[in-house]
Amino acid sequence: MPVAFPDGFVWGTATAAHQVEGGNWNNDWWAWEHHPDKPCTEPSGDACDHWDRWPEDLDLIAELNLRAYRFSVEWSRVEPEEGEFSRAALDHYRRVCAGCRDRGIEPIVTLHHFTTPRWVSALGGWSQPETAERFGRYAERVTGALGDIVDRMCTINEPNWLVINGYFLGIWPPGSNDGSLAQAATDTVVAAHRRAVEAVRSGPGNVAVGLAVSMTDFHTEPGAEEMLEAVRGYMEDTWLRATGGDDFLGVQTYTRTRVGAEGVLPNEEGVRTTLMGYEFWPEALEGCLRRAAEVTGLPLLVTENGIGTDKDDERIEYVERALRGVLRCVDDGIDVQGYLYWSLLDNFEWVYGYGPTFGLVHVDRSTFARTVKDSARWLGEVAESNALK
Ligand code: GCO
Repeated sequence: MPVAFPDGFVWGTATAAHQVEGGNWNNDWWAWEHHPDKPCTEPSGDACDHWDRWPEDLDLIAELNLRAYRFSVEWSRVEPEEGEFSRAALDHYRRVCAGCRDRGIEPIVTLHHFTTPRWVSALGGWSQPETAERFGRYAERVTGALGDIVDRMCTINEPNWLVINGYFLGIWPPGSNDGSLAQAATDTVVAAHRRAVEAVRSGPGNVAVGLAVSMTDFHTEPGAEEMLEAVRGYMEDTWLRATGGDDFLGVQTYTRTRVGAEGVLPNEEGVRTTLMGYEFWPEALEGCLRRAAEVTGLPLLVTENGIGTDKDDERIEYVERALRGVLRCVDDGIDVQGYLYWSLLDNFEWVYGYGPTFGLVHVDRSTFARTVKDSARWLGEVAESNALK
């Protein structure tokens, strides 16, 4: 099996605005974190103070020989009230993109990573069809400000979890578990993606645009084939089918999911798990890339893959095994453009707060001091040689 990645393979890492910037009080997640009955373990607060410390963080990325940085633009900062766009916020993100370019890093911008401005939520959020157009207008503004210095954009991060957790399971904002609202939200998010693709394409520059879908490696028990179709249908296929005509697909995965005749099965007794409670299953990436290629036919970019662990050696083991799977896919002719490790920093993991540590870089919660982990240096060496040993 070859150990070298294709020429031009993109090596990088990722964050999301709300998980690292700090002080994003004007979105639905901040409200959710502070609601007494909600499941969040702690509020995001100052997060990693990346809003101010981004130059230091970009220096770290460059030092590690990673050449791409995926981050998200916070809609509630760019459009704090309907139709009121913040020049200052757009200028901030332009400085981040330019700061990437100055350091030889490709900025990869995500327009929506789970957080929605409070004013959008007050108007009914994603269950309202009008939100697709609202998002489209915002996408136009961001593209207008950044399109000329960005080569790739993701419209919406993990639309599947945005809808399932927010509108079906009710564990994320807006906390709804009404099936008809979940269907409406699905339709709106699909429409918003399509609208944003148009907005990005009609703006400046020549930006490749795609959706970043959460995938899982499905393992089916005998007799569960029908159940698999149903579960995979609402968890993934709806979203994979919404990508027709896109320039690439962002593939994000962390583990496998076992499906039995009655539905999704819990982990088997005694299996190795991560701090998220996921089964340790690095081979998920190979399975997901193969399926993503088969269903969409699009070029693929691994926009997220990683592990929440407090054992840094385990991170190396996980990523190495995942990358061997990428090599097997490439060897079979699948177009995988790059690998972005989730995440650069130990950051705010949504309802789990600061517990699960996914970072290549540790962040001291009281001083914000950054400490590069061994796994980061390891990944940097893989990136530099563009090969596994
Ligand atoms: C997601 C998000 C990230 C998470 C990561 C680890 O996949 O939920 O894109 O925001 O932090 O996946 O759970």
